[in-house]
Amino acid sequence: MKALVYSKSGKPSLEERPRPAMTAPTDAIVKMVHTTICGTDLHILKGDVPSCKPGRILGHEGVGVVAEVGAAVTAFKAGDRVLVACISGCGRCMYCRKQMYSHCTTGGWILGNTIDGTQAEFVRTPHADTSLYAIPAGLDEESLVMMSDILPTGFECGVLNGKVQPGSTVAIVGAGPIGLAALLTAQFYSPAQIIMIDLDDNRLEAAKRFGATACINSSDGKAADVVMRMTGACGADTVIEAVGIPATFELCQQLVAPGGTIANIGVHGRQVTLHLETLWDRNMSITTRLVDTATIPMLLNVLRSKKIDPKLLITHRFKLDGVLDAYETFGNAAKTRALKVLIEVGG
Ligand SMILES: NC(=O)c1ccc[n+]([C@@H]2O[C@H](COP(=O)([O-])OP(=O)(O)OC[C@H]3O[C@@H](n4cnc5c(N)ncnc54)[C@H](O)[C@@H]3O)[C@@H](O)[C@H]2O)c1
Ligand SMILES: [Zn+2]
Ligand SMILES: [Zn+2]
Repeated sequence: MKALVYSKSGKPSLEERPRPAMTAPTDAIVKMVHTTICGTDLHILKGDVPSCKPGRILGHEGVGVVAEVGAAVTAFKAGDRVLVACISGCGRCMYCRKQMYSHCTTGGWILGNTIDGTQAEFVRTPHADTSLYAIPAGLDEESLVMMSDILPTGFECGVLNGKVQPGSTVAIVGAGPIGLAALLTAQFYSPAQIIMIDLDDNRLEAAKRFGATACINSSDGKAADVVMRMTGACGADTVIEAVGIPATFELCQQLVAPGGTIANIGVHGRQVTLHLETLWDRNMSITTRLVDTATIPMLLNVLRSKKIDPKLLITHRFKLDGVLDAYETFGNAAKTRALKVLIEVGG
């Protein structure tokens, strides 16, 4: 089968690989239909994710059709159309019992990280009963690709951890797919202001369309001043970091209001400075989280009710044969205006 591999050169390559085989009775083999590329895949290629070694098939998002199930899988059978969650959870370990699937003792974020992922014709999905989701009839499968990772991530790590409240002020640093997913799902709670910050005017333009009340291009280094002006010198109650570099985490620390929360989403590959000399008396909290995907069932209901339309995030479409172009396009978003690239694998 064809697969996108993180090669030794640090570049992605399209390779011929054997079709995956089941290794546990709780596994399923899924024939992929649609997949996509995540900002985290770009972090892997930059060497920011040491657990992911060269040779790995990347990808942790997508929808597909079950090709085969192990003897212990009872919730799915061959032919079922499924959403693949980016997190695999056994449903039984100490962490899974707390719905912290991200830290499942035999799962977590393994797809496209420590085991082969979804940017391929077939993928082996461990703990299939509790890591795949049946696709409800009538739901658009292209929108569902946003449900594997970006919507639960923006919502769980940004909005829930950041304690977004009605009438509150939210600042989101990073208007990539994850920041935009946080923007879409923050609106469930009717905050008074949602301020989006990025270096890329195209992404800020998209943010405006998706409901941002203000957009700030931070390339002049004055974003913190502008936010203070917009918030009567208070800062933002919820500050969501959706980039994953030291500069943006530093900016978040300048934006947070007394009593507020910095909800970090970004994958950080480098050391970041924590400015306790300015934050110690601010009664603020900092949260970190690897997405648990525990809110997928709830988000599927929201999608079904048409309260959000994540399909708007799809800007480009490719076939698996063109996945290297898809990486090129997603990796050069400022030039290509890419938000989420949809990769069609099969029917
Ligand atoms: N915690 C989790 O579970 C989890 C899950 C998925 C993704 N992530 C992480 O979330 C982050 C965002 O993902 P994405 O797919 O949206 O990535 P992306 O690379 O598409 O988007 C990042 C955005 O940040 C902007 N940016 C870059 N430098 C900036 C700066 N100095 N100031 C302001 N904006 C800047 C870019 O213009 C871009 O729009 C990544 O770090 C990704 O690895 C975390
Ligand atoms: Zn991801
Ligand atoms: Zn578990």
